[in-house]
Amino acid sequence: MSESKPIIEFKDVTFWYGQNETEPALKNINLTIHEGDYVALLGLNGAGKTTLQLCINGVVPNNILGNFEGQVIVDGKDTLETPVREMAKIVGMVFDNPEFQLSQMSVGEEIALGMESLGYSYEEMVETIDEVLDIVGLQGLTERSPFGLSGGQQQRLSIASALAMRPKILVMDEPTSNVDPIGKEEIFQVAYELNRKRNMTVIMAEHEVEVMAQYANLVVVMHEGEIVLQGTPEEVFSNVDLLKSLGLRMPQVAAFGNELEKLGIMTLNGHYPVKLSQAVETYGRLFEKKAG
Ligand SMILES: Nc1ncnc2c1ncn2[C@@H]1O[C@H](COP(=O)(O)OP(=O)(O)O)[C@@H](O)[C@H]1O
Ligand SMILES: [Mg+2]
Repeated sequence: MSESKPIIEFKDVTFWYGQNETEPALKNINLTIHEGDYVALLGLNGAGKTTLQLCINGVVPNNILGNFEGQVIVDGKDTLETPVREMAKIVGMVFDNPEFQLSQMSVGEEIALGMESLGYSYEEMVETIDEVLDIVGLQGLTERSPFGLSGGQQQRLSIASALAMRPKILVMDEPTSNVDPIGKEEIFQVAYELNRKRNMTVIMAEHEVEVMAQYANLVVVMHEGEIVLQGTPEEVFSNVDLLKSLGLRMPQVAAFGNELEKLGIMTLNGHYPVKLSQAVETYGRLFEKKAG
């Protein structure tokens, strides 16, 4: 939200993987994210979403060979000058495949793994494990094997592991892409609560535009390494032609408004509803007219 302070700033960031790549994976990225923002990162595969997210925890450029220009400031720290293990205390990461993130025999050990560098006492660790499992709705599963959990539960465990480091920022890279519909809902719900109830800054790369329109306050659209559009969901999804040309979907309620406009049934001047509640209000007018 615009009255809060910037927590992530990309300043003219360009990044090439390796040394001989001609096309950069990120091109002139300028982006400011404020504390408490919920950012939806949209774009086709290869657009640069993952690379941009890896800049936030400093893995790009510190742990990945390449050519980096510009500056990323996260919570007042320049990522180029901050060790990745320091950044890990500020930025929690959740990736698309939960199984690749799990390695331990029990849920409790899985969470403890990340905490080892924090110098917690045993009691503090146990307390933290209980607390983060509670936040993600996995209370009581401390002794269970991570591999016996559903995809949605595994992904919530990944979130719990990230939360154990007490980060201010949660970066999620297509966290629902390997999860069934119920699991997807669970993950979106946890992310939503972390954002709204705990003011955690969330940056989520995700193809589910309806969900992103519902939760995100900032939508960032990437294409071929560049940010081509950013703004509120309402602003971004008013750009029908651009989104279409990029091969991106609009929320269905917005696409519906666009169709109604083309058929001459309703004039919206590009101000399409993007959330269900807005759709009910806007399209409800059609029925009122008829009744009157
Ligand atoms: N490890 C890597 N080495 C070389 N090129 C890469 C690597 N990872 C990604 N790329 C390239 O960088 C570009 C952006 O990729 P990526 O950030 O993964 O996009 P997205 O997450 O939107 O699918 C693509 O052209 C991709 O092929
Ligand atoms: Mg990706």
